[in-house]
Amino acid sequence: MTWFASAPANIALIKYMGKSANNNVLSHPNNTRNTPTNPSLSYTLNHLQSFVELEHSSTSCDQWQPLPGHTPLALNEQEQTRFLSHLSFIKKQFHYSACFYVRSSNNFPASCGLASSASSFAALTRCAVQAICEQQNRPLPSIQDLSALSRQGSGSSCRSFFEPFALWQQDYAEALPLPYPSLRHMTVIVSQAQKKVSSSQAHQAVFTSLQFENRPQRAQTRLTQLIHALQQQDWFRAYQLTWQEFWDMHALFETATPPFGYFLPGTMMALHLLREYWHIHQDGPLVTMDAGPNIHLLFRPEQQTVYQEIADTLSPHFQLFTPHI
Ligand code: PMV
Repeated sequence: MTWFASAPANIALIKYMGKSANNNVLSHPNNTRNTPTNPSLSYTLNHLQSFVELEHSSTSCDQWQPLPGHTPLALNEQEQTRFLSHLSFIKKQFHYSACFYVRSSNNFPASCGLASSASSFAALTRCAVQAICEQQNRPLPSIQDLSALSRQGSGSSCRSFFEPFALWQQDYAEALPLPYPSLRHMTVIVSQAQKKVSSSQAHQAVFTSLQFENRPQRAQTRLTQLIHALQQQDWFRAYQLTWQEFWDMHALFETATPPFGYFLPGTMMALHLLREYWHIHQDGPLVTMDAGPNIHLLFRPEQQTVYQEIADTLSPHFQLFTPHI
């Protein structure tokens, strides 16, 4: 028997960075893993999907394989272990012991500057719960429960169950209705190299920054302000707040002990061009960055000229990932 599920990626506008105490235990005890020190808000990227297929196997343990017929995906050993240990966690929650072949893929290339852990862990959670509940003849849990389960594999994945915006405060995320149902996404690819500090390591390292002390409060205040700006359709204010937010997160990295960072010279160049564009036109995209050197842009659908001009400005220097919707 086989089961299939998919889930979208998401991009955070207010970032999840830093986990509450007792979070870093590998065995997922007591539902405490990956609880954030501050709430986060993301926009769901429905055109960027991960797919997971589960098939019963008679082997003694779960095994990962790439999903045929999709963009080829190669997970290294560490990534496979992390993915399969989330499946074990879900099986344990449901007292389920049989094994699966786990096949997964994304509809976006691994090298396009987008983290795929949110979409892939959300898709795995959805698929595993579906498979187990069907066999145990029990009703599917609520979407909040799915989000809470997924959070324990990858924090940011708990937001991928909701759209267009997802607000994650504590155990699970929820949909936040805001007046921008369909934004257009572009990634400015500065580098496709594997990052030296993973986001899991960054979550721990930020505690060594003196600036972390007030970070939860700053993120909370900025979240309230951003929600208000989006509700008022004050795009310029939303741009200012999302800009401040990613600089805040990257400042934590650079002020950690020892400092580390993701910015490359190209990142600075692209940010400079984007800031200049906003300055000249008093208009532009929302700009944000994850824990990596690449830049994410969100445009309103009616900003066609802005979208084209930004693409023309950046494309001589950078590869742009602009999915067709
Ligand atoms: O879900 P994780 O542990 O990969 O953390 C994601 C952290 C950021 O992408 C940097 C921010 C976010 O909120 O998605």
